[in-house]
Amino acid sequence: MNVVLVGFRGSGKSTVGRLLGVRLNREFIDCDDFIEKRTQLSIREIFERHGESHFRTLESEAIAEISKLDGKVIATGGGAVLKYQNMQVFKRAGAVVFFLKVSPEAAYERIQGDPASRTRRPALSDKDPFTEIREQIELRAPYYLQAADVVVPADGRGAAEVVEEIARHLAGGGHEERETAPIA
Ligand code: S3P
Repeated sequence: MNVVLVGFRGSGKSTVGRLLGVRLNREFIDCDDFIEKRTQLSIREIFERHGESHFRTLESEAIAEISKLDGKVIATGGGAVLKYQNMQVFKRAGAVVFFLKVSPEAAYERIQGDPASRTRRPALSDKDPFTEIREQIELRAPYYLQAADVVVPADGRGAAEVVEEIARHLAGGGHEERETAPIA
């Protein structure tokens, strides 16, 4: 059973995923890393040279491949939920999907402060950054909710706190980790 993290840019998927991997003793896989390694291009370069739709194809191919693995913690890119098929392949393989829910204000602050944004987060529209974030979060909200088995609020919380909440769900939710010691 894989643990899959979905959520908008800046929701903390990569940081939480890395820590959760350590916490659960599972390998962590970041879909964007996987794509960059495969193509030897940054996400921004893929967008610039080949366009967003080509990136989405690469993303779906990466997800199809990663979902064949088992026992991993997987962080998806913020737009992976837009294709129904991406979430289906995870779910068909029995993954549990956690949605890290973030407000536009918190996402904006984190994106601005994250040096990875330069290579990882090309513009998704011609709007100013905050408007783009607000509109995209609104547009994607139903997709995140449909994908989610569990919604985890991420605003104003450190990654460690989010990790503990996810671990608690997994321990108590009839999933694989049930047999591990309960978390106080
Ligand atoms: C995207 C989010 C990015 C990356 C790409 C597209 C999006 O991932 O996959 O820039 O459409 O929101 P993060 O959510 O890890 O920033």
